[in-house]
Amino acid sequence: MTTFWSTYICVLTIGSLVGLTWLLLATRKGESKGSTDQTMGHSFDGIEEYDNPLPKWWFWLFVGTLMFSVGYLILYPGLGNWKGMLPGYKDGWTGVNEWQKEMDKADAKFGPIFAKFAAMPVEEVAEDPQALKMGGRLFASNCSVCHGSDAKGAYGFPNLTDNDWRWGGEPETIKASILNGRHGIMPAWAEVIGEQGVADVAAFVLTNLDGRTLPEGTKADPANGQKLFATNCVACHGPEGKGTPAMGAPNLTHPQAFIYGSSFAQLQQTIRYGRQGQMPAQQEIQGNDKVHLLAAYVYSLSKGNEQASAK
Ligand code: HEC
Ligand code: HEC
Repeated sequence: MTTFWSTYICVLTIGSLVGLTWLLLATRKGESKGSTDQTMGHSFDGIEEYDNPLPKWWFWLFVGTLMFSVGYLILYPGLGNWKGMLPGYKDGWTGVNEWQKEMDKADAKFGPIFAKFAAMPVEEVAEDPQALKMGGRLFASNCSVCHGSDAKGAYGFPNLTDNDWRWGGEPETIKASILNGRHGIMPAWAEVIGEQGVADVAAFVLTNLDGRTLPEGTKADPANGQKLFATNCVACHGPEGKGTPAMGAPNLTHPQAFIYGSSFAQLQQTIRYGRQGQMPAQQEIQGNDKVHLLAAYVYSLSKGNEQASAK
């Protein structure tokens, strides 16, 4: 906290305490003499108010709370940067510090285990049951929000258990995806090739997918789409549309590889407006050793899944 805010809080808090004490004393009507017959001299619909002092117990309760707050503010943190006088609170009793202490303890306990796995190649770590268990837990708390608890992905988020990789499925590539994040940039085409062009090229991509056919009554020309594809799309998606991992351009010949859907309407939507898939970098959040375990876990998910994704 800066000195300014610290002073601001001190002035406000001490000011209110002093103000309340003054109010209490200033409105006190001398020594309490018990009840009197004196009234305030006003009457509301015939109801009058006695002019009595505060009851004693009430007055002393008020004094007690004021003294309690003064004592509290001396012993415990509360006044700006003042850390309190209790020894246990000297190093700053705050939620952040408590959390940091817990984290330090966990690091001391698990650090050596993480370090041991970090020194092994990802493939080898992916064989270790303890490492996979730890990786699985890290995945559940950090990755499942987007990729799903079974890592099978969702609309807009890739499946990590199959062999369709946007950026590549080698152990080190997976690790790089997690460590540094990824940003897939599919440009928008509506202004470049026009609405008919979007429909045509979407029709080409669709009919190129294991013999799918266009919806009834569609006015789109796949043959023209193929020409448009050759001039506009192959630079990123490759001459056969099988994708370029270096750019994160996905394979467009494999229905399961699409994360934005492969219906005619969804394809047009993707091509018309473009897409910007973003995988957040984990280096700062997890650190290298945890990412190493995560990479091994992710790698283990797709291993032996060749048949599953080849169909
Ligand atoms: C500059 C490189 C580039 C060009 C040119 C390009 N794309 Fe893409 N395309 C990408 C990238 C990268 C992605 C992945 C976007 C993402 O992950 O969010 C993508 C995604 C797609 C998708 C969605 C796949 C999915 O996962 O659902 C389709 C469909 C597609 N492109 C079709 C085309 C068509 C058709 C053309 C030509 C008109 C084209 N692209 C031109 C880079 C490109
Ligand atoms: C905020 C959502 C989000 C979170 C959280 C997230 N991811 Fe991703 N991840 C994505 C998106 C979106 C992509 C696809 C990027 C693209 O379009 O190219 C992706 C891509 C990937 C890829 C590359 C897949 C490929 O086909 O090449 C891997 C590996 C990956 N994520 C692993 C993880 C791991 C491990 C975690 C947890 C530490 C994680 N992700 C957390 C959204 C997320």
